[in-house]
Amino acid sequence: MPAKTSSTSPQKEAEELREALRHHEYQYYVLDQPEISDAEYDELMRRLQKLELEHPELAAPDSPTLRVGGQPREGFQKAAHSSPMLSLDNALDEQELRAFDARVRDLLGGAPFRYVAELKMDGLSMAARYRDGYFQQAITRGDGTTGEDVTENARTVRSLPLRVNFDRPFEVRGEIVMNHRAFERLNTEREELGLTRFANPRNAAAGSLRLLEPGITASRRLEFYTYFVLDEQGRNIFDKHWDALEWLSHHHFKVNPKRKVCADIDQALAFCREWESQRESLPYEIDGVVLKVDSIAQQQRLGFTAKAPRWAIAFKYAARQVETEIVDISVQVGRTGALTPVAHLTPKEVSGVTVSRATLHNEDEIARLGLQIGDTVIVERSGDVIPKVVRVKMQGTHRRPFRMPKTCPVCGGRVVREEGEAASRCINVNCPARLKESIRHFASRGVMNIDGLGDALIDQLVDNGIVQSVADLYDLTADQLTKLERMGPKSAANIIRNIDRSRVLPMPRVISALGIRFVGERTAELLAEYFGSLEKIASASKEDLQAAEEVGPKVAESIHAFFREPHNRQLLERLKAANLTFEHTIKQRKEGPLTGMTFVLTGTLPRMSREEAKATIEAAGGKVAAAVSKKTTWVVAGEDAGSKLDKARQLRIPVISEDQLLAMLVGGR
Ligand code: IVH
Repeated sequence: MPAKTSSTSPQKEAEELREALRHHEYQYYVLDQPEISDAEYDELMRRLQKLELEHPELAAPDSPTLRVGGQPREGFQKAAHSSPMLSLDNALDEQELRAFDARVRDLLGGAPFRYVAELKMDGLSMAARYRDGYFQQAITRGDGTTGEDVTENARTVRSLPLRVNFDRPFEVRGEIVMNHRAFERLNTEREELGLTRFANPRNAAAGSLRLLEPGITASRRLEFYTYFVLDEQGRNIFDKHWDALEWLSHHHFKVNPKRKVCADIDQALAFCREWESQRESLPYEIDGVVLKVDSIAQQQRLGFTAKAPRWAIAFKYAARQVETEIVDISVQVGRTGALTPVAHLTPKEVSGVTVSRATLHNEDEIARLGLQIGDTVIVERSGDVIPKVVRVKMQGTHRRPFRMPKTCPVCGGRVVREEGEAASRCINVNCPARLKESIRHFASRGVMNIDGLGDALIDQLVDNGIVQSVADLYDLTADQLTKLERMGPKSAANIIRNIDRSRVLPMPRVISALGIRFVGERTAELLAEYFGSLEKIASASKEDLQAAEEVGPKVAESIHAFFREPHNRQLLERLKAANLTFEHTIKQRKEGPLTGMTFVLTGTLPRMSREEAKATIEAAGGKVAAAVSKKTTWVVAGEDAGSKLDKARQLRIPVISEDQLLAMLVGGR
């Protein structure tokens, strides 16, 4: 990493971090050539954030930290464009394209001219203004004359430079797009939350740019591809469109490299055809090619019609649709247990790809389409990896309806569709389809906090059949782990120790670790307080469950169904046998491994909250005091421990970590 930050002034350190972040943003988001991992980038960002927080005087209008998104807002202000943002006339085939060319030639009176061909990105257009070299304002196209001020959201777009080496006021225009990867990720997330999917990347990009919370926009990973640079009045700065694109690229704006100067319409048409056939290989959606007359003087001669320039045209590609029949519908189980109906189709080719399956998302979607097995349907590819059924063209003569199975096709577990949810799910925590995800959740921070049990290790454990149930984690040995790839004896021992220590975490953690739908940290806490033991929760009726605070019929239903699944009951038994905390002891116990000891807590502990640590100590017979005194036995210190730590040192009270505290407890079992 280029940022060397030791022994320099905060000012210098901030500058170096900003420079490094700018460099990596450019490499990653503009050039698509990352030099460091996401985690390393995040780490640089965190360091800069921390530094700016500690030294508010270091704030700068172009700091990369501004990209994470600030305060939510109530609405968007309208803003006027410097010159109209027009749209384009379309050419739907070769003939229409040649007609456009003939018109241009005619109007230019036979003078020689060139076209610039660019891909027509399927997003939404936006203008970004710069003043004194700083990004100042971003406006959506709106009606072309007036748009919405989306400055704060645009700032989160990493490929939009916040500072440019050019002093005169200027404006760039271009396309905000969401690439396929970001689109897939967003839709998967939405499905998991029971929200509807975005129909295509353009809708997703438009929705994301107009969110009232810039922080969420930041997470959507939008991109900004530019194609115009104008002065303050919205006039061209360069004599040739191509030069404008080169200037943009030189000043670190993202410009699509797939562009070409064409000497005549045949060359332009060849470019259109070339990308039509390679459309599938692009990481983003395009819906055609835009041709622009290169010379700005000639553009001015050609002028505008009422709604579009005469010097440009959009060559539109045909929608990628095909007609086919639904032969069958099967069900796939996703990593969160969601059951997705998948249509099996009579194979057909759609723009160079043979399509034989299409996702139907869920039961509601099938009902919305009014679709049955045997129907003839229209299937479309529009940015999704998997094509989708758009509508029923003709009902089949021997059609039969699809029914969601009552048991999981992978493990035979119970399938439940929660109230208000679109998805049906397999609720067996240990279902092979969702086991990895169950373990990931179980081990995650804020749940059982098993440091070191990352994705790569989970993959190996599950793929090699070593772990077939979450409970198997507690039978793992360091020996077993060292046999795995990239696992030294030291890390193996650490992981085993971390697993071991998770046994003493308080009961609400165990409840949330089970991953019961709608049961998060807070509900787990309230359930623990009301019922006092996990077994009581497991055997409670729906009515009993609703007696607990904040538990409504929907949550009660989910908890009840969860414990009626035999696999989950088995899991519970095994976790109990592994000595996890099944009782919620808020009251102080007389006898326990910590009897007679007084603890003082300070700083942020890595695993437990203050309340949890207190409850845990008290449950083991110990006492927790607020201040350090001679009577204190141990001071448990976490990160950013303050004056209590100094006091402990003064009084020579031994200071221990949360880890050491947990070790005392595990030892006592
Ligand atoms: S030029 C007056 N270039 O397509 C000039 N537009 O149908 C209009 N688009 O509103 C814009 N890629 O949102 C231009 N390389 C490109 C484009 C592009 C996508 C969009 C843009 C525009 C629409 C026109």
